[in-house]
Amino acid sequence: MNNKTFLIGNWKMNHGIAATTEYCQQLAELSTGLKKTELKIAPPFLSIASATSVAKESQLQIGVQNVHWAENGAYTGEISCGMALEAGATFALIGHSERRQYFGENDHDVLRRTRAAMETDLLPVVCIGETLEEREAGKTDTVLRTQLEGLFTYLSSDEAPSKPLILAYEPVWAIGTGKVPTLEDITDTHRGIIEYWKSFNSTAPCPPILYGGSVSPDNFGEISKIEEVAGALVGGASLVYEKFSKLAEIAEG
Ligand code: 13P
Repeated sequence: MNNKTFLIGNWKMNHGIAATTEYCQQLAELSTGLKKTELKIAPPFLSIASATSVAKESQLQIGVQNVHWAENGAYTGEISCGMALEAGATFALIGHSERRQYFGENDHDVLRRTRAAMETDLLPVVCIGETLEEREAGKTDTVLRTQLEGLFTYLSSDEAPSKPLILAYEPVWAIGTGKVPTLEDITDTHRGIIEYWKSFNSTAPCPPILYGGSVSPDNFGEISKIEEVAGALVGGASLVYEKFSKLAEIAEG
């Protein structure tokens, strides 16, 4: 793993304002003792403001789970990058498989959201991953390359601001199922993404790639040792302090 480890909790549709405030106090305290781990959480939109106010004096960073590409307008149910920044968010999850699966987001939307985030100061965390069916058909690499093509074209063009971006490889079949790819599979897939990046840009390093999908204190020790894994995007285990703090301890090494 790199010098800096990203540990990002995606709370999905869990934890309202009261629960967020209480839990963030613990996480804010935890974050102040961390030396090499960037601890971040993405609560539901309604809880962002309380999370950022609790996290203000700490190292804990707060992000949103989605962001629209327009600055404002008639987009019911969406929020803009400017609104997220105003509420104190520093990053945005983009293209999570649940957004793709249940809300019909496609690679073009993901690219538009990513561009909007990069054009402001939100760090995009762009999620990619194959379904079980695609994996069983031997299409994992093709699927990931299709998801990444527009993004990598943009990032390696003059249009893209030179700002950081994070990728998260989350096999859809591993999310919330307790099933995790083998360490070899994770290594190969991350290497494949890096190789693909090199075909677009042979000089700049590939953005950091997180692994996500049933990450737990039981498996993160081994996963975090993989050199090509820059950290984890965590769902279920990020909802409970005992588990998430254990992951932070592992990330610290
Ligand atoms: P789980 O860790 O619950 O499998 O969720 C992963 C995920 O979707 C994080 O974005």
